Amino acid sequence: MNIKKVMVIGAGQMGSGIAQVCAQAGFEVKLNDLKEEYIERGMAVITKNLTRSVDKGRLSQEEKTKILSYITPSSSLEDASDVDIVIEAAIESMDIKKEIFQKLDKIVGKEAILATNTSSLPITEIAAVTERPEKVIGMHFMNPVPVMKLVEIIRGLATDDEVYQAVEDMTKALQKVPVEVNDFPGFVSNRILMPMINEAIYTLYEGVATKEAIDDVMKLGMNHPMGPLTLADFIGLDTCLYIMETLHDGFGDDKYRPCPLLRKYVKAGWLGKKSGRGFYTYER
Ligand code: CAA
Repeated sequence: MNIKKVMVIGAGQMGSGIAQVCAQAGFEVKLNDLKEEYIERGMAVITKNLTRSVDKGRLSQEEKTKILSYITPSSSLEDASDVDIVIEAAIESMDIKKEIFQKLDKIVGKEAILATNTSSLPITEIAAVTERPEKVIGMHFMNPVPVMKLVEIIRGLATDDEVYQAVEDMTKALQKVPVEVNDFPGFVSNRILMPMINEAIYTLYEGVATKEAIDDVMKLGMNHPMGPLTLADFIGLDTCLYIMETLHDGFGDDKYRPCPLLRKYVKAGWLGKKSGRGFYTYER
């Protein structure tokens, strides 16, 4: 299975990052979103990242132009008819993902792979709405995509070995490190990361320490690059809550109950860095 052409669905933070690393590795990329303005915003982020690499002498101007030329904007799912793989990075909603996968299943060629960048939703359930569950797989990139080395590759119940191998090979071509995991709520990354973040929020909620102190303990004591509350703001508090709810529902275990303070912040619209305010405030 030789992957050359890719469609990335969703030109947000994750989708634009995935499109960038695919183009850098020489794949032909269609960057798809509902509206042209969303794609333009994603392209602007990619251009800014590549310009920074040119300024730092890691990339020539010609290479930057070439990488950008590999990315074509697309506002119709029908454009997926000739791609070898689709990597879906739309919003974290099972209903929306199912709708997208059902449509794609009818559009793409019969050998094409359908991958999702979901952070915690079951791959097997998404695969079940298609006629090709053996070609559906999870490809979970980390934020910021151009920087983080890991791609968690999640096998659904029916995923073919050949499909797994093709996705692993593609991940390596992207200069990333693939790690194979099975399909259980939160996979490995968010099953471990999110309860830690949730516990940090409980620690704040119960007045054990200030937000700065909690972050300092984890940064300076455990060598984490960001404290858990800063990281929660960076990921988005709505995403953190959604993942905790997925863990809570998926395992039916109260050890995954989301902290009430997290719920309150999300209800207030304090979503972290992207909304200008979360545990900390940010200039926009
Ligand atoms: N896009 C592209 N490049 C970026 C970037 C972005 N958004 N943010 C930072 N960078 C690059 C910078 O350009 C810089 O590159 P060079 O050194 O080559 O110039 C490099 O990253 C380091 O950046 P900074 O010096 O500005 O800042 P830093 O050293 O503090 O690193 C960080 C920033 C890489 C984000 C670091 O703080 C970090 O690793 N934080 C933790 C990130 C993390 O845990 N991510 C996983 C989140 S969980 C997830 O994604 C899964 C999920 O499902 C929720």
